[in-house]
Amino acid sequence: MPRLRGPTITLPEGENAWPLLNAHLFGGNHIGGHNVVPRAEVLPVDWAAIYGRAAPLHLEIGYNRGKFLVALAERMPAANVIGIEIRRRYCWRLANMLGPDPEAPRNLRFVWADARATSRVLFGPDSLAGVYINFPDPWWKKRHAKRRLVNVGFAHELAEMLAPGGRIWVKSDVPAIADEFAEAFAEVPALSAPTPFEQGTLPPTHREMSCMAQGLPIVRYHVDRR
Ligand SMILES: C[S@@+](CC[C@H](N)C(=O)[O-])C[C@H]1O[C@@H](n2cnc3c(N)ncnc32)[C@H](O)[C@@H]1O
Repeated sequence: MPRLRGPTITLPEGENAWPLLNAHLFGGNHIGGHNVVPRAEVLPVDWAAIYGRAAPLHLEIGYNRGKFLVALAERMPAANVIGIEIRRRYCWRLANMLGPDPEAPRNLRFVWADARATSRVLFGPDSLAGVYINFPDPWWKKRHAKRRLVNVGFAHELAEMLAPGGRIWVKSDVPAIADEFAEAFAEVPALSAPTPFEQGTLPPTHREMSCMAQGLPIVRYHVDRR
């Protein structure tokens, strides 16, 4: 089994393995992260079969510890909620936390993968009701700028995946990043101009609570698929 930093984490198995979709999508729960390719047999992904019902699908990118993801699923029991996180240890910890928990929301699933590389394959056109980008990594160094989550190309892809009336929600404590994303969204005719929203409209994220405790300013806006 691959080593993690710190103590080795094992994954829940059998009936407790339900929230993590890597085995289903990529052929093994140890297959994930960068450059993973969904199995041809699962494409196009049948999300209704995965959740056991057809419902509006909401995607959080970079769920980290999963606080927001779980709260969103609890707040929207009529929705199907999916998270994609690139760092394995967060996915596996959440799998261990939720898998054996009979109280965990059953309308929630998550994937260990690079959202920028895999979303377009996993989600068809008009398939997402909401996309949540909470406190994305700023990738400060100039040479890392290409790693920033939203560029014009990804903005076009997100707009295509969004159903008409669907919404991309952005929260950030780095105004320059929020502006940069807004500039990318502005290049996509199918998306509206950003509309600010208040704290409390959505559940708080881990990073958001820490920023609020420190009194740091937070930018919150949504853009909508026309
Ligand atoms: C600064 S943390 C914020 C975590 C959480 N959203 C919050 O607000 O507390 C950004 C998260 O996005 C994840 N991430 C960055 N790039 C990603 C990508 N391309 N696909 C999926 N997750 C990504 C990181 O691993 C990290 O967990």
